[in-house]
Amino acid sequence: MNRRKFLLSSIAAALSLSGCNRGGITVTPSTGSDGSPFFIPPELSGETVNGRKSFNLTLQKGTSGFLENVSTPTWGINGAFLGPTLRLRNGESVDISYTNQLNEDTTIHGHGMHVPANMDGGPHQIIAPGETWTSSYTVRQFACTNWYHPHLMGKTAEHVMNGLAGLIIIDDDNSESLDLPKRYGIDDIPVIVQDRTFNSDGTFSYNPSIREIMHGWKGDTLMVNGVINPYLDVEAKQVRFRILNGSNSRVYNFGFVSGKSFRQIATDNAFLESPVELTQLRLSPGERAEIVVDFSNDLGKEEVFWDSDSKINLFKVNIENTATAVTELPARLIPLPRLNPADAARTRSFTLSAQGPGQLVINGQSMNMSVINETVPLDDVEIWEVRNAMGMIHNFHIHATHFQLLERNGNANAVADNEKGFKDTVFIPPNESVKFIVKMTDYADSSIPYMYHCHILEHEDAGMMGQFLVV
Ligand code: C2O
Ligand code: CU
Ligand code: CU
Repeated sequence: MNRRKFLLSSIAAALSLSGCNRGGITVTPSTGSDGSPFFIPPELSGETVNGRKSFNLTLQKGTSGFLENVSTPTWGINGAFLGPTLRLRNGESVDISYTNQLNEDTTIHGHGMHVPANMDGGPHQIIAPGETWTSSYTVRQFACTNWYHPHLMGKTAEHVMNGLAGLIIIDDDNSESLDLPKRYGIDDIPVIVQDRTFNSDGTFSYNPSIREIMHGWKGDTLMVNGVINPYLDVEAKQVRFRILNGSNSRVYNFGFVSGKSFRQIATDNAFLESPVELTQLRLSPGERAEIVVDFSNDLGKEEVFWDSDSKINLFKVNIENTATAVTELPARLIPLPRLNPADAARTRSFTLSAQGPGQLVINGQSMNMSVINETVPLDDVEIWEVRNAMGMIHNFHIHATHFQLLERNGNANAVADNEKGFKDTVFIPPNESVKFIVKMTDYADSSIPYMYHCHILEHEDAGMMGQFLVV
């Protein structure tokens, strides 16, 4: 056994032990000379109680070892930093309970989940310290990769920065029957990308200035699943990566340093109809993409996955194991039902702008918990136009359901092939606009709203958010 292999197995053993520790201290491996092994968040499938799947999650404080010699106080879910991957299936009824063992209020929102407004975990579903809040619903959506994170009014950026975030993977008949890599942690790899800056005592440095609030706060260190520049050993076969940009404001241009191509198979809320070949993949905060990379002919080689904008390496892939199973990515993945613009009952317009330093608004209004900004009739097809009126980047996220992009800057041809799927978050470069089509289905509630907002968390907290009722 070489040194790296030994390190890997001993750390894996330590992690699996600490994974059971509800007390809050987990140890994340520090970077040694060979680098740290890739960390796969534990997967939770829930326990079946009376025909419902139940999940018990604890929001807690802990200490993490991202760096050598110093430790970092962090927040996590059932552990010290980040949380387990929740595995749900279309059609099943679930109860996801969050117990708040922190000393302050928070909330946990299921980003990308199509659920009733009172189960959404937005700013109105506060979980006080010591309390448990349960999000109960029946999963009614296509297979996809979603995520959960705090959404407390004015505090989302800070709570996510502290470490509260995790993936939700939804399976369905289609995802199970397609010949895709689906062995979690072996050829189906979760990739949560976040940036942080550390103080010399190991604590996270996060105290954004007005300028950083306006331009988005960026950390100088990139982490994947809470590990800095890890290595991942894979089989020489097709490997799927489920990538989440879980950063507060950084936009990434993902790819391989070698320029190796890959195929995107899913957007935020569903598979793409067909795989789209790419060498670079841009994701803004909150967006997800699933990609399949073919390492079949790469045995003995290594590849480095990086952010080509910052030129910072994210992780190294060692293709050092012979394939123990083969998958062959199909040419067709799903027939996506499309909404027809001719059926649209109305168009709503949203303008993202600033009203002063550190004060960001949508249609001139700053987020106010007691103001309902929009009322959307159930089952109406609508077109939403969102204009970024500023010389800086924004994006736009809606709760409740997915949408389909129609145009960028008034041009249908400017919508890239890998954006032609179901989305809940869309990137809007400076002074550009997007138009999408959307229909609210299933859940009406005359008093509890859903949110729409820029998912640059500093912007969201600075007021760039609004509320809509589905009636
Ligand atoms: Cu990912 Cu309203 O949030
Ligand atoms: Cu959301
Ligand atoms: Cu923004």
